[in-house]
Amino acid sequence: MARKPETFVTAAIERAQRAVPRVKAGAEGQGRSRRRGAADDAEGLAARKEGFVYLVGAGPGDPELLTLKAARLLQRADVCVYDHLVSNDVLALVRRSAELIYAGKEKSNHALPQEDINAIMVALARKGKRVLRLKGGDPFIFGRGGEEMQFLAEHGIPFEVVPGVTSASGASTYAGIPLTHRDYAQACVFVTGHLKSGSCELDWEMLARRGQTVVIYMGMGQIEEICGELKAHGLPGDWPAAAVERATTPKQRVVTGTLTTLPGRAAHAALKPPALIIVGEVVKLRGELGWFDTDAEQLITHPEAAHA
Ligand SMILES: C[S@@+](CC[C@H](N)C(=O)[O-])C[C@H]1O[C@@H](n2cnc3c(N)ncnc32)[C@H](O)[C@@H]1O
Repeated sequence: MARKPETFVTAAIERAQRAVPRVKAGAEGQGRSRRRGAADDAEGLAARKEGFVYLVGAGPGDPELLTLKAARLLQRADVCVYDHLVSNDVLALVRRSAELIYAGKEKSNHALPQEDINAIMVALARKGKRVLRLKGGDPFIFGRGGEEMQFLAEHGIPFEVVPGVTSASGASTYAGIPLTHRDYAQACVFVTGHLKSGSCELDWEMLARRGQTVVIYMGMGQIEEICGELKAHGLPGDWPAAAVERATTPKQRVVTGTLTTLPGRAAHAALKPPALIIVGEVVKLRGELGWFDTDAEQLITHPEAAHA
């Protein structure tokens, strides 16, 4: 009898978790690549004839949010080149014999420059390796996945892209904030708070419209400026806003407030990246719809800071 998909995923995860647990290279020394075991399975050997790159979205952290396709490809990789946003729980599901290469890319700590990451993928694929390029969230949402695939295309390397649950989706669902609840939002905008130039030049007039939800990636360092600009462009100071740190993981913390209070509350709770800012009336629903409790959340020193 065919197995149900959820049985397949649970079995795959349990199998991987029984295996020797892995830690990120970062824990042992960032930037080092590690070769594990020499054994190749039949798929690995077949892959040697022609290299291939799979650009795979690892989702926001909870390994059960991987797609079935991602879970399958994790088990087929010869080499896995992964970013710092890939959770240890997801990394634990990569085939045990695969070589792991930490590509880093935390703000101001790029373990490998982007050109080196591109060159490594091309070189490995040319050696006939099946390369898994694993990125947090969705690889095509603020993840440079497009740029990396352009480089592969220019160098004639075949590739495939597997979407992942983007952190806006993971954070909003696990925080109980429905991004487009129709009583409050008819549109949802994803923006980055960190621009190429290092400044934060966004279309504030567009972002300050009512009837929409704005999700800001990479905005924690500029939270005060972001909330200030939204107010300066027409939103009221008591407009609801939230910040969600390490969404979907046991370390998730959520701080809610308003455009006026959120920067101070987030600072008081010492929220750090990776975190998202969600702005819009849908944030009000968290009190009613929040369902995911973590111990980390209880540790926010002033519990009243967690609710507007
Ligand atoms: C370089 S972007 C990558 C986004 C990713 N491709 C995605 O689809 O989620 C990194 C930013 O995504 C957000 N992010 C990623 N994972 C997160 C998580 N688990 N919780 C909260 N924010 C997260 C943070 O704003 C972080 O600074």
